[in-house]
Amino acid sequence: LGPDPDSGTMENSPLQVVTVPTAPYPDQRPGTDGLRKSVCVFQSRRNYLHNFVQSILSSIDLRDRQGSTVVVGGDGRFFNQTAIEVIVQMAAANGVGRLIIGHHGIMSTPAISCVIRKYKAIGGIVLTASHNPGGPHGDFGIKFNTANGGPAKEAVSSKIFLISRTIEEFAICPGLKVDLTTLGRQTFDLENKFKPFTVEIVDSVESYANLLRNIFDFAALKELLSGDHRIKIRLDAMHGVAGPYVRKILCEELGCPANSAINCVPMDDFGGQHPDPHPTYATDLTDSMRDGQYDFGAAFDADGDRNMILGKHGFFVTPSDSVAVIANNIFCIPYFQHTGVRGFARSMPTSAALDRVAKATKIELYETPTGWKFFGNLMDAGMLSLCGEESFGTGGDHIREKDGLWAVLAWLSILASRRQSVEDIVKDHWLKYGRNYFTRSGEKTPESLLI
Ligand SMILES: *[C@@H]1O[C@H](CO)[C@@H](O)[C@H](O)[C@H]1NC(C)=O
Repeated sequence: LGPDPDSGTMENSPLQVVTVPTAPYPDQRPGTDGLRKSVCVFQSRRNYLHNFVQSILSSIDLRDRQGSTVVVGGDGRFFNQTAIEVIVQMAAANGVGRLIIGHHGIMSTPAISCVIRKYKAIGGIVLTASHNPGGPHGDFGIKFNTANGGPAKEAVSSKIFLISRTIEEFAICPGLKVDLTTLGRQTFDLENKFKPFTVEIVDSVESYANLLRNIFDFAALKELLSGDHRIKIRLDAMHGVAGPYVRKILCEELGCPANSAINCVPMDDFGGQHPDPHPTYATDLTDSMRDGQYDFGAAFDADGDRNMILGKHGFFVTPSDSVAVIANNIFCIPYFQHTGVRGFARSMPTSAALDRVAKATKIELYETPTGWKFFGNLMDAGMLSLCGEESFGTGGDHIREKDGLWAVLAWLSILASRRQSVEDIVKDHWLKYGRNYFTRSGEKTPESLLI
């Protein structure tokens, strides 16, 4: 039995929905970033994935779930296809009406947030373990985002955990096979269902690019990156999912030469590297920046929500300084000229560089616990426009996740407007506001900071 995308008619008999008995696991409490375990836990423990997916689906009231739209995608790490197949079969069996899935099952975390909001989905299932290594010996992760496009709040996560502790059965439609390679709609007829279950395979790169086009001045960025006085940039997608977005937006649309973007083919083990945008791991980038041939560099993590910003010769911008510099230059970004600035926020461990900008500009500053959902709360309340974390997360209120490519375009907007080097912009910032130092306990200070 398969999809019949052309005619929409279903000549085969309806797909069977079955209920399978299972036993609970005690360790499925979602952390701030969902459930993360080694791949072998998902592979070797019977129904481990099924239990958690059923717990997510059961946490949504049947009334809200029935006929609803849910988004599914991830960073393409090892186990991605198996997980998507199970999620599709279980979503169908649990009354979800429509799934929106990224082409080949791949979507960056910021793109999922964007797509949830665009399609007014009740939520999304995000398959990533962020910057943790992937592959058969790496980690896999599964996270639930709610209708605002952001990570589930504690009440939802607790509910999922409670259900997982007492689960006795799950519902699945084992004959349902989806084709992730073809864009467009596939419909499936299920027994006991009045309406067909539909799956839409979407080009999330296009949806996400469209969001950014409405935030930044693409003409100015194009001039900066491919005009007569262009700067040279180098972007490292670290074989995560940011690659296709970088290629489409920076290379195809903004005119960067193809060799500006490296490690842009998503791999299920990220080439055996830590997909972590940190001076310790993004060594392809830091090595290529050293001799000064590039004016600007950036790296992303596996699921594309984190970023690291470098200037010429690898001048390292700490994440805490990065958000403060963006705040100080926020009106270089057209989006904020339209919305105004509602507030700034940083997580508790992030340096207070942002506080200094907030004070000088008389804009409200919020300090939150670690976890993007706390920023999401403030954004939903209309109190926050720009925020950041020392752990390489930066973002605005256009979505409810941190957004690596957004941060890069924010920096490029500042460069386009100020026409100064990254280093000069940061040093001017320190002159004006003073400089905040911080380090993570047990972590070596990057060499480039010892100046
Ligand atoms: C996703 O899973 C498939 C099947 O296991 C694998 O071939 C592929 O490399 C994975 N990742 C990507 C980025 O396609």
